[in-house]
Amino acid sequence: MSAATAESVMIESVLREKRVFAPAAEFSQRAHIKSMDEYRALWQRAYDDPEGFWAEQAAILDWFRRWDKVLEWNEPFAKWFIGGQLNACYNCVDRHLATWRRNKVAILWEGEPGDTRVLRYLDLHREVCRFANVLKQLGLTKGDRVTIYMPLIPEAVVAMLACARIGVTHSVVFGGFSAEALADRNNDAKARVVITADGGYRRGKIVPLKANTDQALQRSPTVEKVVVVRRTGENVPMTSGRDFWWHELIANASPDCPPEPLDSEHPLFILYTSGSTGKPKGVLHTTGGYLVGAALTHKWVFDIRDEDTYWCTADIGWVTGHSYSVYGPLANGTTVVLYEGAPNHPREDRFWEIVERYRVSVFYTAPTAIRSFMRWGEHWPKQHDLSSLRLLGSVGEPINPEAWMWYYEVIGQKRCPIVDTWWQTETGMIMISPLPGATPTKPGSCTFPLPGVVAEIVDKQGRPVPRGQGGYLVIKRPWPAMLRTLYGDDERYRKQYWEQIPHVYFTADGARQDEDGYFWVMGRVDDVLNVAGHRLSTMEVESALVSHPKVTEAAAVGRPDPIKGEALVCFVTLAAGVQPSEALKQELREHVAKEIGPIARPDDIRFTDALPKTRSGKIMRRLLRDIAAGRETVGDITTLEDYSVLARLREEEE
Ligand code: WTA
Repeated sequence: MSAATAESVMIESVLREKRVFAPAAEFSQRAHIKSMDEYRALWQRAYDDPEGFWAEQAAILDWFRRWDKVLEWNEPFAKWFIGGQLNACYNCVDRHLATWRRNKVAILWEGEPGDTRVLRYLDLHREVCRFANVLKQLGLTKGDRVTIYMPLIPEAVVAMLACARIGVTHSVVFGGFSAEALADRNNDAKARVVITADGGYRRGKIVPLKANTDQALQRSPTVEKVVVVRRTGENVPMTSGRDFWWHELIANASPDCPPEPLDSEHPLFILYTSGSTGKPKGVLHTTGGYLVGAALTHKWVFDIRDEDTYWCTADIGWVTGHSYSVYGPLANGTTVVLYEGAPNHPREDRFWEIVERYRVSVFYTAPTAIRSFMRWGEHWPKQHDLSSLRLLGSVGEPINPEAWMWYYEVIGQKRCPIVDTWWQTETGMIMISPLPGATPTKPGSCTFPLPGVVAEIVDKQGRPVPRGQGGYLVIKRPWPAMLRTLYGDDERYRKQYWEQIPHVYFTADGARQDEDGYFWVMGRVDDVLNVAGHRLSTMEVESALVSHPKVTEAAAVGRPDPIKGEALVCFVTLAAGVQPSEALKQELREHVAKEIGPIARPDDIRFTDALPKTRSGKIMRRLLRDIAAGRETVGDITTLEDYSVLARLREEEE
């Protein structure tokens, strides 16, 4: 974080949006939260008596044992619902079997090739219990860690819930990550088992998940066993004694497996996310507080009702998939749509075909996807009946007002409220968002903090900034779904989140509040990029580049991109004697994709014989960002060590 970024936050905050969209009366009447007055009263109630408020809200779950104490706050370490016992899998599955929902559909799944599966809550229960018994047979016990590296198939959800059932902590690694990234995560979590598939489908091609796993396992010493789902039927080598087919293990497994009563603070999952220093951060979430937060916000923000067909398009490899495809909706007994593949396969209307086929009523996606739909053209959605939709959501990055309006008019047909939900892997749950029956929305604003969330915009010293002025978004009080630590690294947790600005949770996002108090999030202020809604650390990309023998130095920055939000631009200095060439650019792009995964493949590589540095040797990223964006350099460059570097970098642009 540098002063330069705070300044750019203020520069960006000149954006002003005047349109306001109030919820329709019919929507409000039926909503869980029906008016701004009701919202304000709830927010105030939570503010005045947070523990009383959260104790009331915790009744959204079934507890085996009630907690003795709601919150123990030892900054920066929180414990919620201490002494309480529950099981996340029981809450997402078993408890619905005692109601009419036992035959309700839990999962409507569609594979990219067009195959489909339907699992009722009863089916989900049977599959989860059988697989939980398999995990036990493999020798896993409460407290162990398992990596899940899978396509978005029902088995991925079954695997997550089976872990939760027996107290095993899962770490889902996005199927688009490389073998290298998988190995790093296996090692950091000390995973004993990897659950994967022979492959998954993406844009008509097969993602070689098992081959990547085999490669990762060459340097994952803690992993003893691998379970492989047969998804594609590809021929994959199986190592005897180490690798097992899912279908063979499950064939003899009993469908009887009682859920383990777990302490509220039992670790439910680790999810790795990019930080501003090289190593990915293992964000740790625990059971009771996380599930209360995910279930409650799912109910309120998506105004969920039993008759909804709900589709969150995120992969389970991201936190959105965890909280809003799996834990939140299943805890609420919702019917969830899951789709394995790409939005433009076989054609650009695949999403709208799915909305029409399943009569989706609540749809949650990312701005980068919306901008792609805009580019593909409105004739695609227009070929489909989207009248089942009643509510739309957005997450992952700031949504630009043009994309918001397109989403509202073309997809929602001016009938559906839009909830622009701000949150993070670390927050576990949606923090700032409209409540669709209450909040008048402004395109591009995530509006107001939810009840129980105390958010503020401050300067570097933690002093609130006046309305209209940009600053750092912070959260002032602990909340139940907050991360508990970074796995195995309490110090990094403290430094990253609680010491940047004293005594508040530092989000690393810049934001402002307008004159009506609406929050406008403007993006990251650290060295983290948001490419297509996914967090990428510039450090990770840089260390991938310098691991290439022909590279001596590298700097990665973002450039505004109409579809992806930010595109990844890398400035590279080559080892002595190496000639720059187009072929080498391509080679380096592929190298990064291999080291981290295709999402991190640089959009642009620029060779330079030096990087602009301060006298103390820090790379001046702001200058590089300006150059990458083709902007004239503005602001203070008096600390620049070698002015000629700038001139040469600009030449490289031509
Ligand atoms: C950004 C995804 C503006 C933000 C749930 C945040 C957003 C980061 C929004 C977290 C939004 C997410 N408006 N920015 N509605 N939602 N962000 O951990 O920069 O993958 O810090 O969690 O995405 O990304 P993460």
